[in-house]
Amino acid sequence: MSATLIDGKVFAASVRDKVATHVARLKEAMGVTPGLAVVLVGDDPASEVYVRSKGKMTVEVGMNSYEHKLPAETSEVDLLALIEALNADKDVHGILVQLPLPDHLNEALVINAIDPAKDVDGFHISNVGLLSTGQKAMVPCTPLGCLMMLRDHHGSLSGLNAVVIGRSNIVGKPMAQLLLGDSCTVTIAHSRTKDLPEVVRRADIVVAAVGRANFVQGDWIKPGATVIDVGINRIPAPEKGAGKSRLVGDVDFTSASTVAGAITPVPGGVGPMTIACLLANTLTACCRSHGFAEPEGLTA
Ligand code: GUN
Repeated sequence: MSATLIDGKVFAASVRDKVATHVARLKEAMGVTPGLAVVLVGDDPASEVYVRSKGKMTVEVGMNSYEHKLPAETSEVDLLALIEALNADKDVHGILVQLPLPDHLNEALVINAIDPAKDVDGFHISNVGLLSTGQKAMVPCTPLGCLMMLRDHHGSLSGLNAVVIGRSNIVGKPMAQLLLGDSCTVTIAHSRTKDLPEVVRRADIVVAAVGRANFVQGDWIKPGATVIDVGINRIPAPEKGAGKSRLVGDVDFTSASTVAGAITPVPGGVGPMTIACLLANTLTACCRSHGFAEPEGLTA
């Protein structure tokens, strides 16, 4: 491997440190403690793990954490009533409704019921519109984390060719908007893109978010390019023993890391940045709601 490793664990810890420092200052100078409410409907085990982890880290940076666990059969009316109450609650600066929701609940309706100023996921249609028109928005956490790592590695991104592989609303599309905002020349590629290896070979920056294990090959990568791997795929790992598995990204790390200039590993790359950016967004939402100066280096 010749590429520089972009360590998401170290970077995320530094983001959380910055958030904690700013939160301590807010408490001391203004008597305000940022608060994050997380709503979990049902008992999906993976979602429960995420929510517990979010709650723990929220408290660790000095913020208030409010967890609302609702039964899987919760009605849309009841869920919307909770969101209304959280929208009106002055102690709650950020609201996150854990996805996916049970099938009987309309995800778009629920997300768009959140006050856009408290939408720390950046999924509300108003925030999507604000981001795409270059206005101040709440920005989805995973692409925000990717942007922070890219800015840290490159300094300016201006004029660079960026290829985003994947067109999801949560990662691909907002990532492309953020890179455009930093004056990259942006291509959004996806599963139907013709000659994908050729498209990727033009990129100074590759962001892979397709959800296919080890999909992007080393010989697709322009020598020296920066590769950000958003994928988290679990694959069988018989070498670890019968029935064992391991996590890999959307990029074939072994081949790509011999060609790239810099690369994020999986695990330990983009993953840890997502919750760090959720905390950063909660702090940002709190500062905006009170008219305080926004934290530097923690926003798009
Ligand atoms: N489920 C998995 N990741 C996320 C996320 O980033 N936000 C929400 N709301 N739900 C998720």
